Amino acid sequence: MTALMSLTNVSKNFGGLAVITDVSFDVPAGARMALIGPNGAGKTTIFNLISGVYQPSAGEIRLEGQEISAIPSRERIGLGIARSFQNIRLMPHLSVLENVMLGQQARAGNLGNMLSPLRRSRWRREAEELLEQMGLDTYPGEVVATLPYGIRKKIEVVRALVAKPKLLMLDEPAAGLNNTETANLKDFLMQIAATGVTLLVVEHDMSLVRSLCDHAVVLNFGEKIYDGPTAEVQKDPDVLEAYLGTRHAGKETTDVA
Ligand SMILES: Nc1ncnc2c1ncn2[C@@H]1O[C@H](COP(=O)(O)OP(=O)(O)OP(=O)(O)O)[C@@H](O)[C@H]1O
Ligand SMILES: [Mg+2]
Repeated sequence: MTALMSLTNVSKNFGGLAVITDVSFDVPAGARMALIGPNGAGKTTIFNLISGVYQPSAGEIRLEGQEISAIPSRERIGLGIARSFQNIRLMPHLSVLENVMLGQQARAGNLGNMLSPLRRSRWRREAEELLEQMGLDTYPGEVVATLPYGIRKKIEVVRALVAKPKLLMLDEPAAGLNNTETANLKDFLMQIAATGVTLLVVEHDMSLVRSLCDHAVVLNFGEKIYDGPTAEVQKDPDVLEAYLGTRHAGKETTDVA
């Protein structure tokens, strides 16, 4: 079966600096996949390559078998690839609903389409429904700047989701969240996955990775060092070495990432 997303021998250099080297992996449709690795391993760069912020220096990136490297970033949202960013990128002075509606732009074609009164009410209803489904119904009119960090992280996810992606890429969704907020986020993401959206998640919180993701790809210095079940990742000698700089195979309690 064709993977939803596949990277084949992808490399990325910035000037003389090799940031990603010959990375290949598949994201099967319906997967809940983690992309992990130490700081600077190249995780965000992989997201930037998949979402079209960067062009690969070599290799192929395919969505449902179609090579997408030449397709501009903006058009990739329409193809079914949406993402959130490592740092929150909401418009702080706009309301929750307005921020979420910004995520609909790629589907609306242009802003004019969204602003025509008839269409506006349809888009608005859809955004409100999604917020409600995701348990954010109490906040649509509130200005984002006034909301707690955990809620703002969720709004970012909803804004990506409103583009109706096949693949939702989240860059450190639990960063800065407390344990309760993280547990809450996990339920929220499981709910999204249950609707058929494929997840690719960069995350340092290994307990979230273990409970949310079935499969993990691990990067170290821009190279793939592991591609397999999440349940096994913390026992892998190469992974342990990448995080600890030495072989500690069998040390169960090591908190990789
Ligand atoms: N535009 C760029 N120009 C030059 N170097 C870059 C660029 N973008 C990323 N890098 C370098 O590539 C490496 C990988 O960065 P990247 O942000 O992908 O890491 P990461 O795995 O997401 O790390 P973190 O866990 O800290 O977010 C780093 O050494 C970074 O400095
Ligand atoms: Mg990063």
